[in-house]
Amino acid sequence: MTPVIRAVQADAIAPAAHLTFPTLATFFSQATPAEAPTVPLRIAAYDGATPVGLALALYRKDRRQAELLSLAVDKAFRRRGVGTSILQSVEHHLRTDNISEISARFSDAMPGASAFGALTGGAGWNGPVPERMRIMGPVGNALEVFRDRDKLLTRASRDGLVLASWRDFPHDARGHILQEIAEGRAPGWSSAGLFSDTFDPDFSMVLTKGANTIVGWVICQFHAKPRRWSFPVGWIDHEYQKRGWLLVAYADGARRLGERFGPDAVAVFESTMGLPLMWRVLEDRFAPHAQVADRILRVDTQL
Ligand SMILES: CC(C)(COP(=O)(O)OP(=O)(O)OC[C@H]1O[C@@H](n2cnc3c(N)ncnc32)[C@H](O)[C@@H]1OP(=O)(O)O)[C@@H](O)C(=O)NCCC(=O)NCCS
Repeated sequence: MTPVIRAVQADAIAPAAHLTFPTLATFFSQATPAEAPTVPLRIAAYDGATPVGLALALYRKDRRQAELLSLAVDKAFRRRGVGTSILQSVEHHLRTDNISEISARFSDAMPGASAFGALTGGAGWNGPVPERMRIMGPVGNALEVFRDRDKLLTRASRDGLVLASWRDFPHDARGHILQEIAEGRAPGWSSAGLFSDTFDPDFSMVLTKGANTIVGWVICQFHAKPRRWSFPVGWIDHEYQKRGWLLVAYADGARRLGERFGPDAVAVFESTMGLPLMWRVLEDRFAPHAQVADRILRVDTQL
């Protein structure tokens, strides 16, 4: 029998929870207030009463954009076109609600990565295109790999770079970052994590030239449960990108973490394709020594 595909509500998610990530199952099991700017879309495939496939997406009518957060088909039902039909149904619902674009991001280390890339490619989506890279490992490793950090740090200090821990920085760095983004001098992603509960003021950093001119920033988030310091964002003004200052800041963050919590403290460094030098260094020098290294790939399509 061919599974039946239909849009479902929050109360249908619990029986289908094995077809997504636990945090998404919890989030999509809750009803959203009608006036919320972000609208959830849940599409499930049923074999009789049994859910055998599930897609979860969020979209914003004001921006006409959607993000597919998860799509999975029960193992026994794969390669029968169910994933494709679910995706078509997602696209259909979004089109009906006047959404013009959908994208999805996934790790290339995920077991279903190539299947998902092939599925979206077959459906006419663009990509996959690498968007971000994540490197995870004990800071002791980073310091061992980064042998020339003292030389780089000395040179950067001589050229005027000052690294301040967020907590010690006397000016309004948040306001500065938002203004830089609003005026188009920094990309939108460069504020990711800035307002989250996990923002860590000790290991987030402000990069200045001289005492007061902010030229970049590094955002650090502390995740208590896995006991991990994550650096999702490092941004530096265009004119300083080639000087390796951001790398110096990351190295200093790793050094300070090591000093305070020991060489086994685990850090996750990320870089986007928008910072080619950083990307190359992480990929060439750090990825081979990391505990986990993956790339976040993006696929998208116009509706
Ligand atoms: C990715 C996934 C949803 C695909 O579902 P599916 O129902 O098997 O997909 P379809 O049958 O519609 O496949 C459509 C096309 O995608 C490609 N494809 C699907 N699975 C593939 C695989 N394992 N390897 C290579 N290509 C694959 C093929 O081109 C396929 O067409 P074909 O069967 O005619 O060759 C499923 O493999 C899955 O649930 N994986 C685990 C969860 C996951 O990784 N989700 C992705 C991101 S959250």
